Amino acid sequence: TGNVTLDAGFTNTASCTSAITYIDGGEGILRYRGYPIEQLAESSNFLETSYLLIYGELPTPAQLTDFEDRVREHTMLHEDLKGFFGGFPRDAHPMPVLSSAVSALSTFYQDSLDPFDQEQVEISTIRLLAKLPTIAAYAYKKSIGQPFLYPDNDHSLVENFLRMTFGVPATEYEIDPEIVKAVELLLILHADHEQNCSTSTVRLVGSSHANLFASVSAGINALFGPLHGGANQAVLEMLERIQNAEYSTDEFMKKVKDKEDGVRLMGFGHRVYKNYDPRAAIIKDTAHTILQKTGGGDELLEIAMRLEEIALADDYFVERKLYPNVDFYTGLIYKSMGFPTRMFTVLFALGRLPGWIAQWREMIADPTTKIGRPRQVYTGEGARDYVALNQR
Ligand code: CMC
Repeated sequence: TGNVTLDAGFTNTASCTSAITYIDGGEGILRYRGYPIEQLAESSNFLETSYLLIYGELPTPAQLTDFEDRVREHTMLHEDLKGFFGGFPRDAHPMPVLSSAVSALSTFYQDSLDPFDQEQVEISTIRLLAKLPTIAAYAYKKSIGQPFLYPDNDHSLVENFLRMTFGVPATEYEIDPEIVKAVELLLILHADHEQNCSTSTVRLVGSSHANLFASVSAGINALFGPLHGGANQAVLEMLERIQNAEYSTDEFMKKVKDKEDGVRLMGFGHRVYKNYDPRAAIIKDTAHTILQKTGGGDELLEIAMRLEEIALADDYFVERKLYPNVDFYTGLIYKSMGFPTRMFTVLFALGRLPGWIAQWREMIADPTTKIGRPRQVYTGEGARDYVALNQR
Protein backbone atom coordinates (compact mmCIF):
# COMPACT_ATOMS: atom_id res chain seq x y z
CA THR A 1 0.00 0.00 0.00
CA GLY A 2 2.95 2.32 -0.55
CA ASN A 3 3.35 5.03 2.06
CA VAL A 4 -0.24 4.99 3.30
CA THR A 5 -0.53 5.45 7.09
CA LEU A 6 -3.38 3.84 8.99
CA ASP A 7 -5.26 6.25 11.27
CA ALA A 8 -8.51 4.52 12.20
CA GLY A 9 -11.09 7.05 13.37
CA PHE A 10 -8.80 9.90 12.20
CA THR A 11 -7.47 10.44 15.72
CA ASN A 12 -4.40 12.20 14.41
CA THR A 13 -5.14 13.26 10.86
CA ALA A 14 -6.18 16.79 9.91
CA SER A 15 -8.46 16.71 6.88
CA CYS A 16 -8.41 20.45 6.18
CA THR A 17 -7.28 23.85 7.35
CA SER A 18 -9.99 25.98 8.92
CA ALA A 19 -10.31 29.48 10.36
CA ILE A 20 -13.69 28.93 12.01
CA THR A 21 -13.44 27.15 15.35
CA TYR A 22 -10.53 26.68 17.73
CA ILE A 23 -10.45 23.92 20.34
CA ASP A 24 -7.73 23.24 22.89
CA GLY A 25 -8.81 19.90 24.32
CA GLY A 26 -6.20 19.89 27.07
CA GLU A 27 -7.16 23.30 28.41
CA GLY A 28 -10.89 23.00 27.74
CA ILE A 29 -10.95 26.02 25.39
CA LEU A 30 -13.54 26.57 22.64
CA ARG A 31 -13.66 29.70 20.47
CA TYR A 32 -15.72 30.62 17.42
CA ARG A 33 -13.75 32.92 15.10
CA GLY A 34 -11.55 33.78 18.09
CA TYR A 35 -14.39 34.65 20.48
CA PRO A 36 -14.52 32.53 23.69
CA ILE A 37 -17.64 30.38 23.92
CA GLU A 38 -18.30 31.73 27.42
CA GLN A 39 -18.62 35.32 26.09
CA LEU A 40 -20.86 34.33 23.20
CA ALA A 41 -23.03 32.25 25.54
CA GLU A 42 -23.37 35.23 27.87
CA SER A 43 -23.97 38.02 25.37
CA SER A 44 -24.82 36.81 21.87
CA ASN A 45 -27.91 35.22 20.36
CA PHE A 46 -28.18 32.33 17.94
CA LEU A 47 -28.59 34.28 14.70
CA GLU A 48 -25.76 36.66 15.56
CA THR A 49 -23.50 33.69 16.33
CA SER A 50 -24.61 32.05 13.07
CA TYR A 51 -23.60 35.22 11.21
CA LEU A 52 -20.24 35.20 12.98
CA LEU A 53 -19.54 31.58 12.05
CA ILE A 54 -20.65 31.92 8.44
CA TYR A 55 -19.23 35.35 7.54
CA GLY A 56 -16.26 35.48 9.92
CA GLU A 57 -17.03 38.68 11.85
CA LEU A 58 -19.66 39.86 14.32
CA PRO A 59 -22.29 41.83 12.37
CA THR A 60 -22.80 45.57 12.70
CA PRO A 61 -26.34 46.50 13.85
CA ALA A 62 -27.33 47.15 10.21
CA GLN A 63 -25.85 43.86 9.02
CA LEU A 64 -27.63 41.95 11.78
CA THR A 65 -31.01 43.53 11.02
CA ASP A 66 -30.59 42.78 7.34
CA PHE A 67 -29.61 39.16 8.09
CA GLU A 68 -32.56 38.69 10.47
CA ASP A 69 -34.94 40.17 7.90
CA ARG A 70 -33.69 37.90 5.15
CA VAL A 71 -34.02 34.82 7.38
CA ARG A 72 -37.52 35.92 8.44
CA GLU A 73 -38.60 36.10 4.81
CA HIS A 74 -37.91 32.40 4.26
CA THR A 75 -39.33 30.64 7.34
CA MET A 76 -42.36 29.26 5.52
CA LEU A 77 -42.25 25.85 3.83
CA HIS A 78 -43.51 25.26 0.31
CA GLU A 79 -47.04 23.80 0.64
CA ASP A 80 -45.98 20.75 -1.37
CA LEU A 81 -43.12 20.12 1.04
CA LYS A 82 -45.67 20.08 3.86
CA GLY A 83 -47.37 17.17 2.11
CA PHE A 84 -44.12 15.27 2.49
CA PHE A 85 -44.64 14.80 6.23
CA GLY A 86 -47.80 12.77 5.61
CA GLY A 87 -45.73 10.07 3.93
CA PHE A 88 -43.96 9.01 7.10
CA PRO A 89 -45.35 6.61 9.67
CA ARG A 90 -46.90 8.41 12.62
CA ASP A 91 -44.25 7.09 15.03
CA ALA A 92 -41.30 8.09 12.83
CA HIS A 93 -38.24 9.42 14.64
CA PRO A 94 -37.97 13.13 13.80
CA MET A 95 -34.26 12.94 12.83
CA PRO A 96 -34.75 10.93 9.61
CA VAL A 97 -37.80 13.09 8.89
CA LEU A 98 -35.54 16.14 9.25
CA SER A 99 -32.79 14.78 6.99
CA SER A 100 -35.32 13.65 4.38
CA ALA A 101 -37.02 17.04 4.30
CA VAL A 102 -33.66 18.83 4.00
CA SER A 103 -32.68 16.48 1.19
CA ALA A 104 -36.01 17.31 -0.47
CA LEU A 105 -35.08 21.02 -0.47
CA SER A 106 -32.78 20.17 -3.41
CA THR A 107 -35.92 19.37 -5.42
CA PHE A 108 -37.78 22.56 -4.47
CA TYR A 109 -34.91 24.99 -5.06
CA GLN A 110 -33.27 23.75 -8.22
CA ASP A 111 -32.36 27.34 -9.03
CA SER A 112 -29.83 27.54 -6.20
CA LEU A 113 -27.80 24.34 -6.21
CA ASP A 114 -24.56 25.51 -7.83
CA PRO A 115 -21.85 25.48 -5.13
CA PHE A 116 -19.72 27.92 -7.12
CA ASP A 117 -22.36 30.60 -7.63
CA GLN A 118 -22.07 32.95 -4.64
CA GLU A 119 -25.61 34.24 -4.92
CA GLN A 120 -27.03 30.74 -5.03
CA VAL A 121 -24.98 29.66 -2.02
CA GLU A 122 -26.19 32.75 -0.17
CA ILE A 123 -29.88 32.11 -0.79
CA SER A 124 -29.49 28.42 0.11
CA THR A 125 -27.80 29.46 3.35
CA ILE A 126 -30.70 31.73 4.28
CA ARG A 127 -33.32 29.17 3.27
CA LEU A 128 -31.72 26.46 5.39
CA LEU A 129 -31.35 28.67 8.46
CA ALA A 130 -34.94 29.87 8.12
CA LYS A 131 -36.62 26.57 7.28
CA LEU A 132 -34.90 24.03 9.52
CA PRO A 133 -36.77 25.17 12.69
CA THR A 134 -40.07 25.01 10.78
CA ILE A 135 -39.25 21.52 9.48
CA ALA A 136 -38.26 20.44 13.00
CA ALA A 137 -41.50 21.74 14.52
CA TYR A 138 -43.57 20.03 11.80
CA ALA A 139 -41.75 16.72 12.34
CA TYR A 140 -42.81 16.98 15.97
CA LYS A 141 -46.41 18.00 15.22
CA LYS A 142 -46.71 15.10 12.83
CA SER A 143 -45.58 12.67 15.55
CA ILE A 144 -48.30 13.85 17.95
CA GLY A 145 -51.00 14.26 15.34
CA GLN A 146 -51.47 18.02 15.78
CA PRO A 147 -51.93 20.54 12.95
CA PHE A 148 -48.96 22.51 11.63
CA LEU A 149 -48.75 26.18 12.54
CA TYR A 150 -47.47 28.70 10.01
CA PRO A 151 -44.50 30.74 11.18
CA ASP A 152 -45.48 34.14 12.55
CA ASN A 153 -42.75 36.49 11.52
CA ASP A 154 -43.41 39.01 14.26
CA HIS A 155 -41.39 36.58 16.34
CA SER A 156 -37.69 35.79 16.38
CA LEU A 157 -36.43 32.52 14.93
CA VAL A 158 -36.27 30.79 18.32
CA GLU A 159 -39.62 32.20 19.52
CA ASN A 160 -41.21 30.99 16.31
CA PHE A 161 -39.73 27.54 16.70
CA LEU A 162 -41.13 27.23 20.24
CA ARG A 163 -44.50 28.56 19.10
CA MET A 164 -44.72 26.19 16.13
CA THR A 165 -43.64 23.27 18.36
CA PHE A 166 -45.82 23.84 21.41
CA GLY A 167 -48.56 26.16 20.15
CA VAL A 168 -51.96 25.13 18.82
CA PRO A 169 -54.22 26.99 16.37
CA ALA A 170 -56.57 29.70 17.66
CA THR A 171 -54.82 29.89 21.02
CA GLU A 172 -52.17 32.49 21.79
CA TYR A 173 -48.90 30.74 22.67
CA GLU A 174 -47.29 32.52 25.58
CA ILE A 175 -43.63 33.10 24.93
CA ASP A 176 -41.51 32.77 28.05
CA PRO A 177 -38.41 34.99 27.60
CA GLU A 178 -36.37 32.89 30.03
CA ILE A 179 -37.02 29.71 28.04
CA VAL A 180 -36.24 31.55 24.80
CA LYS A 181 -32.95 32.74 26.29
CA ALA A 182 -32.05 29.22 27.42
CA VAL A 183 -32.78 27.77 23.96
CA GLU A 184 -30.69 30.56 22.33
CA LEU A 185 -27.85 29.65 24.69
CA LEU A 186 -28.08 25.93 23.98
CA LEU A 187 -28.10 26.53 20.23
CA ILE A 188 -25.05 28.81 20.50
CA LEU A 189 -23.15 26.14 22.45
CA HIS A 190 -23.87 23.58 19.70
CA ALA A 191 -23.25 25.92 16.76
CA ASP A 192 -19.86 24.57 15.68
CA HIS A 193 -17.23 22.14 16.88
CA GLU A 194 -14.65 21.94 14.08
CA GLN A 195 -14.18 18.57 12.35
CA ASN A 196 -16.58 16.38 14.35
CA CYS A 197 -18.28 13.40 12.69
CA SER A 198 -21.26 15.25 11.18
CA THR A 199 -19.23 18.27 10.05
CA SER A 200 -16.61 16.04 8.46
CA THR A 201 -19.50 14.28 6.72
CA VAL A 202 -20.86 17.59 5.41
CA ARG A 203 -17.40 18.47 4.07
CA LEU A 204 -16.77 15.02 2.58
CA VAL A 205 -20.10 14.98 0.76
CA GLY A 206 -19.62 18.60 -0.32
CA SER A 207 -16.11 17.85 -1.57
CA SER A 208 -17.71 15.98 -4.47
CA HIS A 209 -19.44 19.32 -5.26
CA ALA A 210 -22.79 18.04 -4.00
CA ASN A 211 -25.06 20.98 -3.16
CA LEU A 212 -25.48 22.50 0.31
CA PHE A 213 -28.85 20.83 1.04
CA ALA A 214 -27.54 17.38 0.07
CA SER A 215 -24.41 17.87 2.18
CA VAL A 216 -26.31 19.11 5.25
CA SER A 217 -28.82 16.27 4.95
CA ALA A 218 -25.91 13.82 5.16
CA GLY A 219 -24.61 15.68 8.22
CA ILE A 220 -27.99 15.31 9.94
CA ASN A 221 -27.83 11.55 9.42
CA ALA A 222 -24.31 11.42 10.87
CA LEU A 223 -25.51 13.38 13.89
CA PHE A 224 -28.30 10.87 14.51
CA GLY A 225 -25.92 8.20 15.87
CA PRO A 226 -25.79 7.66 19.67
CA LEU A 227 -22.02 8.22 19.85
CA HIS A 228 -22.53 11.70 18.36
CA GLY A 229 -25.67 13.89 18.61
CA GLY A 230 -27.86 10.96 19.59
CA ALA A 231 -26.00 10.89 22.91
CA ASN A 232 -28.35 13.47 24.47
CA GLN A 233 -31.29 11.12 23.98
CA ALA A 234 -29.20 8.16 25.19
CA VAL A 235 -28.22 10.06 28.37
CA LEU A 236 -31.81 10.67 29.36
CA GLU A 237 -32.81 7.09 28.64
CA MET A 238 -29.89 5.97 30.83
CA LEU A 239 -30.93 8.26 33.69
CA GLU A 240 -34.54 7.10 33.42
CA ARG A 241 -33.49 3.46 33.60
CA ILE A 242 -31.68 4.21 36.85
CA GLN A 243 -34.65 6.25 38.12
CA ASN A 244 -37.02 3.38 37.34
CA ALA A 245 -34.76 1.19 39.45
CA GLU A 246 -33.84 -1.13 36.61
CA TYR A 247 -30.49 -1.02 38.35
CA SER A 248 -28.83 1.15 41.01
CA THR A 249 -26.24 3.81 40.24
CA ASP A 250 -23.50 1.53 41.58
CA GLU A 251 -24.66 -1.44 39.56
CA PHE A 252 -24.76 0.72 36.47
CA MET A 253 -21.26 2.09 37.05
CA LYS A 254 -19.96 -1.45 37.53
CA LYS A 255 -21.46 -2.47 34.15
CA VAL A 256 -19.75 0.50 32.52
CA LYS A 257 -16.36 -0.25 34.03
CA ASP A 258 -16.63 -3.97 33.23
CA LYS A 259 -17.61 -2.92 29.71
CA GLU A 260 -20.56 -5.28 30.02
CA ASP A 261 -22.44 -5.45 26.70
CA GLY A 262 -20.50 -2.36 25.60
CA VAL A 263 -22.40 -0.19 28.12
CA ARG A 264 -20.94 3.31 28.32
CA LEU A 265 -21.62 6.19 30.62
CA MET A 266 -23.42 8.25 27.99
CA GLY A 267 -22.59 11.95 27.97
CA PHE A 268 -19.07 11.21 29.15
CA GLY A 269 -15.82 11.31 27.22
CA HIS A 270 -14.76 13.20 24.15
CA ARG A 271 -12.25 12.66 21.38
CA VAL A 272 -10.70 16.09 21.86
CA TYR A 273 -11.55 17.31 25.38
CA LYS A 274 -9.37 15.54 27.90
CA ASN A 275 -10.01 18.02 30.68
CA TYR A 276 -13.56 19.36 30.86
CA ASP A 277 -15.92 20.20 28.04
CA PRO A 278 -16.38 23.99 28.45
CA ARG A 279 -19.89 23.67 27.02
CA ALA A 280 -20.82 21.18 29.76
CA ALA A 281 -19.65 23.65 32.41
CA ILE A 282 -21.95 26.37 31.06
CA ILE A 283 -24.88 23.98 30.62
CA LYS A 284 -24.62 22.58 34.13
CA ASP A 285 -25.39 26.04 35.54
CA THR A 286 -28.29 26.50 33.14
CA ALA A 287 -29.69 23.09 34.10
CA HIS A 288 -30.01 24.23 37.70
CA THR A 289 -31.69 27.54 36.80
CA ILE A 290 -34.14 26.08 34.29
CA LEU A 291 -35.07 23.06 36.36
CA GLN A 292 -35.82 25.32 39.31
CA LYS A 293 -38.07 27.40 37.09
CA THR A 294 -39.90 24.61 35.28
CA GLY A 295 -40.03 22.30 38.30
CA GLY A 296 -39.70 18.55 37.93
CA GLY A 297 -36.71 16.68 36.62
CA ASP A 298 -34.96 17.23 39.95
CA GLU A 299 -34.62 13.55 40.61
CA LEU A 300 -32.99 12.95 37.22
CA LEU A 301 -30.68 15.90 37.80
CA GLU A 302 -29.69 14.39 41.13
CA ILE A 303 -28.96 11.04 39.49
CA ALA A 304 -26.86 12.83 36.86
CA MET A 305 -24.92 14.76 39.47
CA ARG A 306 -24.35 11.58 41.48
CA LEU A 307 -23.04 9.76 38.39
CA GLU A 308 -20.75 12.68 37.65
CA GLU A 309 -19.46 12.76 41.20
CA ILE A 310 -18.75 9.02 41.25
CA ALA A 311 -17.10 9.11 37.82
CA LEU A 312 -14.83 12.05 38.58
CA ALA A 313 -13.48 10.24 41.65
CA ASP A 314 -13.06 6.86 39.95
CA ASP A 315 -9.74 5.62 38.55
CA TYR A 316 -11.41 4.14 35.44
CA PHE A 317 -12.63 7.57 34.35
CA VAL A 318 -9.68 9.56 35.67
CA GLU A 319 -7.10 7.39 33.88
CA ARG A 320 -8.98 7.65 30.61
CA LYS A 321 -9.60 11.38 31.06
CA LEU A 322 -13.37 11.00 30.74
CA TYR A 323 -15.39 14.08 31.75
CA PRO A 324 -18.99 15.16 31.13
CA ASN A 325 -19.49 16.39 27.58
CA VAL A 326 -22.06 18.79 26.14
CA ASP A 327 -24.72 16.06 26.02
CA PHE A 328 -24.63 15.11 29.69
CA TYR A 329 -26.96 17.84 30.95
CA THR A 330 -28.76 19.09 27.84
CA GLY A 331 -31.39 16.33 27.81
CA LEU A 332 -32.52 17.27 31.30
CA ILE A 333 -33.06 20.86 30.21
CA TYR A 334 -34.92 19.90 27.03
CA LYS A 335 -37.13 17.51 28.96
CA SER A 336 -38.01 20.15 31.55
CA MET A 337 -38.96 22.51 28.70
CA GLY A 338 -41.45 19.91 27.48
CA PHE A 339 -39.52 18.42 24.56
CA PRO A 340 -39.98 14.66 24.16
CA THR A 341 -36.76 12.64 24.24
CA ARG A 342 -36.84 12.05 20.48
CA MET A 343 -36.59 15.78 19.80
CA PHE A 344 -33.29 16.22 21.66
CA THR A 345 -31.04 15.36 18.74
CA VAL A 346 -33.20 17.56 16.49
CA LEU A 347 -32.37 20.47 18.79
CA PHE A 348 -28.68 19.60 18.41
CA ALA A 349 -29.14 19.69 14.62
CA LEU A 350 -30.79 23.13 14.76
CA GLY A 351 -27.82 24.37 16.75
CA ARG A 352 -25.15 22.75 14.56
CA LEU A 353 -26.61 24.02 11.28
CA PRO A 354 -24.63 27.30 11.05
CA GLY A 355 -21.42 25.35 11.72
CA TRP A 356 -22.17 22.91 8.91
CA ILE A 357 -22.95 25.78 6.56
CA ALA A 358 -19.86 27.77 7.54
CA GLN A 359 -17.59 24.74 7.12
CA TRP A 360 -19.13 23.78 3.77
CA ARG A 361 -18.73 27.33 2.48
CA GLU A 362 -15.15 27.56 3.71
CA MET A 363 -14.33 24.32 1.90
CA ILE A 364 -16.02 25.33 -1.35
CA ALA A 365 -14.29 28.73 -1.32
CA ASP A 366 -10.85 27.18 -0.78
CA PRO A 367 -9.14 26.61 -4.16
CA THR A 368 -6.88 23.93 -2.65
CA THR A 369 -9.84 21.69 -1.73
CA LYS A 370 -9.75 18.25 -3.34
CA ILE A 371 -12.41 15.57 -3.26
CA GLY A 372 -12.22 13.73 0.08
CA ARG A 373 -10.93 10.27 -0.68
CA PRO A 374 -9.21 8.41 2.18
CA ARG A 375 -6.95 5.46 1.42
CA GLN A 376 -7.05 2.07 3.15
CA VAL A 377 -4.80 -0.71 4.30
CA TYR A 378 -6.01 -3.82 2.47
CA THR A 379 -6.24 -6.99 4.60
CA GLY A 380 -8.16 -9.31 2.26
CA GLU A 381 -7.20 -12.30 0.11
CA GLY A 382 -4.39 -12.22 -2.43
CA ALA A 383 -5.14 -12.82 -6.11
CA ARG A 384 -7.01 -16.08 -6.76
CA ASP A 385 -8.82 -17.69 -9.68
CA TYR A 386 -12.59 -17.75 -10.11
CA VAL A 387 -14.16 -21.13 -9.29
CA ALA A 388 -17.18 -22.24 -11.31
CA LEU A 389 -20.44 -22.47 -9.32
CA ASN A 390 -20.80 -26.24 -9.74
CA GLN A 391 -17.31 -26.77 -8.33
CA ARG A 392 -17.89 -24.89 -5.02
N1 CMC B 1 -18.05 5.37 29.26
C1 CMC B 1 -17.17 4.39 29.58
N2 CMC B 1 -15.97 4.25 28.99
C2 CMC B 1 -15.65 5.11 28.03
C3 CMC B 1 -16.52 6.15 27.65
C4 CMC B 1 -17.76 6.27 28.31
N3 CMC B 1 -18.62 7.23 27.98
N4 CMC B 1 -15.93 6.87 26.66
C5 CMC B 1 -14.74 6.30 26.44
N5 CMC B 1 -14.56 5.23 27.27
C6 CMC B 1 -13.38 4.38 27.38
C7 CMC B 1 -13.26 3.42 26.20
O1 CMC B 1 -13.89 2.20 26.49
C8 CMC B 1 -11.76 3.28 26.05
O2 CMC B 1 -11.33 2.43 27.09
P1 CMC B 1 -10.03 1.46 26.85
O3 CMC B 1 -8.86 2.40 26.75
O4 CMC B 1 -10.01 0.60 28.07
O5 CMC B 1 -10.30 0.71 25.60
C9 CMC B 1 -11.24 4.69 26.39
O6 CMC B 1 -12.24 5.25 27.27
C10 CMC B 1 -11.06 5.59 25.17
O7 CMC B 1 -12.31 5.61 24.47
P2 CMC B 1 -12.46 5.66 22.90
O8 CMC B 1 -13.76 5.06 22.53
O9 CMC B 1 -11.22 5.11 22.25
O10 CMC B 1 -12.49 7.23 22.68
P3 CMC B 1 -12.99 7.98 21.38
O11 CMC B 1 -12.27 9.26 21.33
O12 CMC B 1 -12.92 7.07 20.19
O13 CMC B 1 -14.55 8.21 21.67
C11 CMC B 1 -16.59 9.17 22.37
C12 CMC B 1 -15.09 9.42 22.06
C13 CMC B 1 -17.26 10.49 22.65
C14 CMC B 1 -17.24 8.50 21.15
C15 CMC B 1 -16.69 8.25 23.60
O14 CMC B 1 -16.11 8.87 24.72
C16 CMC B 1 -18.12 7.82 23.90
O15 CMC B 1 -18.62 6.85 23.32
N6 CMC B 1 -18.84 8.56 24.81
C17 CMC B 1 -20.23 8.26 25.09
C18 CMC B 1 -21.11 8.85 24.00
C19 CMC B 1 -21.21 10.35 24.08
O16 CMC B 1 -21.42 10.93 25.14
N7 CMC B 1 -21.06 11.01 22.92
C20 CMC B 1 -21.18 12.48 22.81
C21 CMC B 1 -19.86 13.09 22.47
S1 CMC B 1 -19.82 14.88 22.64
C22 CMC B 1 -20.97 15.58 21.57
C23 CMC B 1 -21.11 14.94 20.26
O17 CMC B 1 -20.16 14.67 19.54
O18 CMC B 1 -22.26 14.71 19.88
